[in-house]
Amino acid sequence: MPDATAVLTPLRVGVVAESAPGETRVAATPKTVEQLIGLGYDVLVEAGAGSRSAFTDQAYAASGALVAERAQVWDADVVLKVNAPGAEEIARLHDGALLLALISPALNPDLVDQLAGRRITVLAMDAVPRISRAQSLDVLSSMANIAGYRAVVEAANRFGRFFTGQVTAAGKVPPAKVLVAGAGVAGLAAIGTASSLGAIVRATDPRPEVAEQVASLGGQYLGVLTRDAGSEDVSEGTVSGGDGYARPTSADYNRLAEQLYAEQARDVDIIITTALIPGRPAPRLITAEHIAAMSPGSVIVDMAAAQGGNVEGTRPGEVVVTANGVSIIGYTDLAGRLPTQASQLYGTNVVNLMRLLTPSKDGQVVLDFDDVVQRAMTVVRDGTKTWPPPPVPVAATPAAPVAKRVAKEVKPETGPGRLYATVGVGGVLLFLLAAFAPAQFIGNLTVFALAVVIGYYVIGNVHHALHTPLMSVTNAISGIIVLGALLQIGHDNTLVTVLATLAVFLASINVFGGFAVTRRMLSMFSKG
Ligand code: NAI
Repeated sequence: MPDATAVLTPLRVGVVAESAPGETRVAATPKTVEQLIGLGYDVLVEAGAGSRSAFTDQAYAASGALVAERAQVWDADVVLKVNAPGAEEIARLHDGALLLALISPALNPDLVDQLAGRRITVLAMDAVPRISRAQSLDVLSSMANIAGYRAVVEAANRFGRFFTGQVTAAGKVPPAKVLVAGAGVAGLAAIGTASSLGAIVRATDPRPEVAEQVASLGGQYLGVLTRDAGSEDVSEGTVSGGDGYARPTSADYNRLAEQLYAEQARDVDIIITTALIPGRPAPRLITAEHIAAMSPGSVIVDMAAAQGGNVEGTRPGEVVVTANGVSIIGYTDLAGRLPTQASQLYGTNVVNLMRLLTPSKDGQVVLDFDDVVQRAMTVVRDGTKTWPPPPVPVAATPAAPVAKRVAKEVKPETGPGRLYATVGVGGVLLFLLAAFAPAQFIGNLTVFALAVVIGYYVIGNVHHALHTPLMSVTNAISGIIVLGALLQIGHDNTLVTVLATLAVFLASINVFGGFAVTRRMLSMFSKG
């Protein structure tokens, strides 16, 4: 009979060196190795695996890993890798092994079949569903964020002027103008980086809901006004999917966007394109005509070069200089150009996945197919192909134009007649109150009405990002309410006592709720 108290041998996690030419990243860093050991695993790192991202074998050894030869590391129970394995590498995995790597299963069906030919389990690091719970594992977002930053650095490197405007002894220097097309993860990172370097940044995206994010990063959102066929409705962008992703743009949108790009190309110095619709070739945004209108020395970074490019004339992995002196950068390894950062974020995404797979922190993997995240990422389970997974329901994002349209539809019901009637009834009620209520009541009511109006305007104008500090102010107000109510609680009138008790109760919910929320937020920042 098996001993229920027997301690299971920890699984060995192997961090292998990347074999793809030009790959600079590694799937674990000394810091993430420590975290994997904290989950109960034994960690082996292939000698030299981190050399291209500035992590030495000594650093891995100091963090508790065993630095070993290639064959020994590939023989581990869990193999961590950045790029998809080649045929020779798949053959090295032992039966029952678990592999975590970027697989791109939708684009590589042959690779998935090849992996399913072995009795192994494979989780694709690039198949994380875009739901908030899975954000900490989302490698594509981590890499797009780095790539957006690096796209600006590459543009600045080729651009012959400052990004920021300056007043120097030798004269005034105007700031550079940057246009970012597509304000997803990479686009927003590019907007933030370019504006922090001092450039004037504009951005366009068919999803109008990104306008606020663009503005919060210092950019100006340029919307494309489209007219829905057969309707008089004019709205900004019409292609938001309910899941927050863009849908293919309409012919009307494309025609108007083309005009926007033609105008902007004449004005800006740098264009960074990141437009992508999942599962489709990259939309063509910038044409040869637009490029011909740009000034010599201008730079374009086409981040979608690997998917066919947003820019006419892009060559993946290369820099093309046009006849009029515009550089088109088509690098497809932008994240890998920041190898230390990219490895750290990739490694952290892997650790977050391993946390999910190790519920007891005992160095044992438990794959839970009831968890949508684990299910969505698993392409092969014990030699059985499990790709594609069932669709993951994604929380709908409110789309601004729809809200506008709804506002338009309800207009007749809230027309001027109804408004006048409401104001009239309100006036009569106020008159009756003033005539029959005690004078003190009118005074209190006036203070209350003024407090509501002032509170509405003060709080309504506070930016969302500042709502947490605002909470502490409301806590202070709740404190005053509690004090006032306690003074009234012993009143002779039962109604006053009941109201005071209710006030203490409601204000306490705010105070203790505030503490609970703050505690929860602080725990998000606490290590371990
Ligand atoms: P994302 O899905 O977060 O953002 C794409 C954005 O493009 C969305 O906001 C979407 O609304 C917008 N878009 C769609 N159609 C458009 C159109 N016609 N005009 C303007 N905008 C449009 O994607 P993410 O993660 O930001 O990646 C962006 C691109 O960068 C992808 O093509 C990705 O493959 C690429 N990438 C390139 C890297 C490199 O080394 N070159 C590294 C990482 C990502």
